[in-house]
Amino acid sequence: MTTTRHFLTLMDFSKDELQQLLTSAIEMKKDFKAGKIYEPLKNMTLAMIFEKSSTRTRVSFEAGMNQLGGHAMFLSSRDTQLGRGEPIEDSARVISSMVDIVMIRTFGHTIVENFAAHSNVPVINALTDDFHPCQLLADMMTYVEHRGSIQGKVVTYVGDGNNMCHSWMNAAKQFGFHLNMACPKGYEPDTKLSAELSEYVSLFHDINDAVKDVDLITTDVWASMGQEDEQKIREKAFKGFKVDDAVMALAKKDALFMHCLPAHREEEVSTSVIDGKQSVVWDEAENRLHAQKALLVALVKGLV
Ligand code: CP
Ligand code: NVA
Repeated sequence: MTTTRHFLTLMDFSKDELQQLLTSAIEMKKDFKAGKIYEPLKNMTLAMIFEKSSTRTRVSFEAGMNQLGGHAMFLSSRDTQLGRGEPIEDSARVISSMVDIVMIRTFGHTIVENFAAHSNVPVINALTDDFHPCQLLADMMTYVEHRGSIQGKVVTYVGDGNNMCHSWMNAAKQFGFHLNMACPKGYEPDTKLSAELSEYVSLFHDINDAVKDVDLITTDVWASMGQEDEQKIREKAFKGFKVDDAVMALAKKDALFMHCLPAHREEEVSTSVIDGKQSVVWDEAENRLHAQKALLVALVKGLV
């Protein structure tokens, strides 16, 4: 019996499989730019379930599926029975009986785990409160394109110990780099995950200590989707955790700056940094398309 493979966190794929995905994403990007048509998913359907807002994730999955010859179906929980309380298990059985692959953006991580457990087709986590693995595929691809392998490098994540931080932690293990995490007190990442990955991650409460001589600095919003009510409290707590020119100057001269976007200029990052020479944020965004095309093909065609 073959079991259906899912992509709920970076830990669902082996290190080799992740490297293979990056290689194939870089190749697909080159071919796409050269105008080559590649339609391995002709007549296939991706169901995209969104319980939270999105620009990059929706556009990249929908455009990507079309470019691969298939079709993407946008399902907002507001307009489906999911929003009226139909159980996840029932929804998973029904939706997966009609499509070839499912992508979900939701709140609790157990929702995607539960959906995947009852799905006959591969399920991709397109962001939960705990993880955002698709973003990391694009980010790892972007690093490789600019600087080559990330193995052995040191990366600093600045800010909230949130879904992005957790996925950077997983990436440290899977792609072989060390992750410094500079978080305000009370906003540290999950303690269980930190303990499991203690070999690959270090926690700091002073941003200056965390960024010295590192190869890459990344950050994220202070209040994530669903935390809008905490904006004011968080602005106080995160004071001193803005990535600005002084922070970038402590890293290596050729250090890159990444942000998954959307960004709040002059909050978690200065305008001069995000719009400056070391920033690769537009490449990260574009690479969502190419990395996820590689992921879709790998999962649907059973290449992983
Ligand atoms: N980075 C990211 O996932 O962006 P969206 O919320 O716009 O999809
Ligand atoms: N941490 C952010 C990431 C957005 C892509 C959020 O969850 O809102």
